[in-house]
Amino acid sequence: MISFCFLLFISLSAIQSHGLDKFTAAVYEHAVILPENSITPVTADEALVLMNRNIDILEKAIKSAASQGAHIIVTPEDGIYGWIFTRETMYPFLENIPHPEVNWIPCSDPERFGRAPVQTRLSCIAKLNSIYVVANIGDKKPCNISTVGCPEDGHFYYNTAVVFDSDGRLVARYHKYNLFSFEGQFNVPPEPEMVTFETPFGKFGIFICFDILFYKPAAALVVDHQVDTILYPTGWLNILPHFTAIEIHSAWAMGMGINLLAANLHNTSMRMTGSGIYTPETPGPYYYNMDTEHGHLILSELSAHPRNSSTFFTPNWSLYANSIGQYSPGHNVFRGHLFSDEFTFTELTEPQGNYTLCQKNLCCHLTYTGMEKIIDEVYVLGVFDGLHTEEAKCYMQICTLLKYQITDLETCGLPVETASTKFNYFSLSGNFSSSFVFPEVLLSKINLAAGMFQVLPDGRLTSLSSISQEPLLSASLIGRLYDKDPIH
Ligand SMILES: *[C@@H]1O[C@H](CO)[C@@H](O)[C@H](O)[C@H]1NC(C)=O
Ligand SMILES: *[C@@H]1O[C@H](CO)[C@@H](O)[C@H](O)[C@H]1NC(C)=O
Ligand SMILES: *[C@@H]1O[C@H](CO)[C@@H](O)[C@H](O)[C@H]1NC(C)=O
Ligand SMILES: *[C@@H]1O[C@H](CO)[C@@H](O)[C@H](O)[C@H]1NC(C)=O
Ligand SMILES: *[C@@H]1O[C@H](CO)[C@@H](O)[C@H](O)[C@H]1NC(C)=O
Ligand SMILES: *[C@@H]1O[C@H](CO)[C@@H](O)[C@H](O)[C@H]1NC(C)=O
Repeated sequence: MISFCFLLFISLSAIQSHGLDKFTAAVYEHAVILPENSITPVTADEALVLMNRNIDILEKAIKSAASQGAHIIVTPEDGIYGWIFTRETMYPFLENIPHPEVNWIPCSDPERFGRAPVQTRLSCIAKLNSIYVVANIGDKKPCNISTVGCPEDGHFYYNTAVVFDSDGRLVARYHKYNLFSFEGQFNVPPEPEMVTFETPFGKFGIFICFDILFYKPAAALVVDHQVDTILYPTGWLNILPHFTAIEIHSAWAMGMGINLLAANLHNTSMRMTGSGIYTPETPGPYYYNMDTEHGHLILSELSAHPRNSSTFFTPNWSLYANSIGQYSPGHNVFRGHLFSDEFTFTELTEPQGNYTLCQKNLCCHLTYTGMEKIIDEVYVLGVFDGLHTEEAKCYMQICTLLKYQITDLETCGLPVETASTKFNYFSLSGNFSSSFVFPEVLLSKINLAAGMFQVLPDGRLTSLSSISQEPLLSASLIGRLYDKDPIH
């Protein structure tokens, strides 16, 4: 009996100290039901009716995920009330969300911090299904209007991500720092918050949507806090060729060497779709769908500590580019714009070739073979080194191989979503001035190229043999020079 108890003790403590090596994550892409009236304020009860309609849908997804063994599920930014608000119309949707240090299970003690029906319901759903639930709601914090910075209506409003653990306890609260242009109803917290928490399946960090473009808190959570997995509620508007949700989010996971659980909103007229469970090795599983207006659940098993894998390495992004000489830039070098950034381009005119193209401090090298070019398609190597300014001010260095959109009557300035041209092989590299470089490959009709490319320790993005079957839209290395960003 003693030895039995002893053995039991040993095995329990082994589980507690080492935790799980793998876990199952879920993300739910949600077609949020929007408020009908965005001009006149509704009552708190009317606001709750709308929020409960959305939570009804989220609850089904959470139940389904839990029944399939998921340990954690992420739901999107604005997934409970939508995004069209003034300060006045926002107010009835907000709750006071306390700091997690208060150790609160809303499901067991709903009134402890005032009226909190949304937090209570989310907490109960987490507890009943024994699953971590990540959601996005609005926090309100009263302030004294005679203090500097306090809004005239006497409250700070925060776009807030919350996490309830599998007992329904509030374990994380994050106030979004980098607000997007149409979020005028919310306030920016005084400092970027670095929110992390430990679980038996790794260390987690959390941030929201637009935050991903900036150093704080996004990159800092990985660099300074060594998180394993990022929880990422988002409401991402897709922008081709480099910033569709699935490509830039998967690229960030690869470039930072972490898992990223990205749950997007779904609204095709707003170009919002694209969710995924991304790891340092693989871009996906993911979901992208512009043909329906439905939500969608994704599950995947992943490593709790991706950096501890024997195959994990951090590439030196400039090593290869610094080790070779320069090729020719080609004959047809020209300037053109992508998302308002002025790139230098060179056209790929032969079925194979080697090119070097530079802008300012960045030189990009491309080697490719077996380009089966379709007659009216133009492919280019492009380079950009500068401050991107549209929607966000962020300094970027980009090397890209892409199907170039020729603006004529036919395409009429629309982004290119389809291609027919295939490559047998390509290899792209650049002498980046940053260790933050995000590799992305996008196939025709907005598909990711899982298993069709790799990043080498010397910083080359190279194709694998299966790429030759797939028409290519773009292959890119997106570098971020956070030090050169303007002050927040
Ligand atoms: C607000 O601040 C003013 C000036 O500091 C002070 O006189 C007043 O009592 C404060 N009001 C409240 C409600 O704390
Ligand atoms: C998508 O968003 C637009 C703009 O906010 C809205 O008018 C439309 O009703 C939404 N579509 C659906 C299906 O909810
Ligand atoms: C992961 O690797 C680090 C450093 O090699 C080590 O300290 C840590 O214990 C490992 N974690 C797990 C859960 O294996
Ligand atoms: C990357 O390689 C370059 C040589 O091209 C070297 O100078 C640099 O220190 C390396 N960077 C890192 C982080 O190892
Ligand atoms: C490109 O360079 C590689 C070596 O770096 C060479 O083997 C190949 O023949 C070159 N291709 C062309 C088309 O110049
Ligand atoms: C990249 O290479 C070009 C050409 O050799 C050089 O002028 C530039 O300084 C290099 N950039 C960096 C950051 O080393």
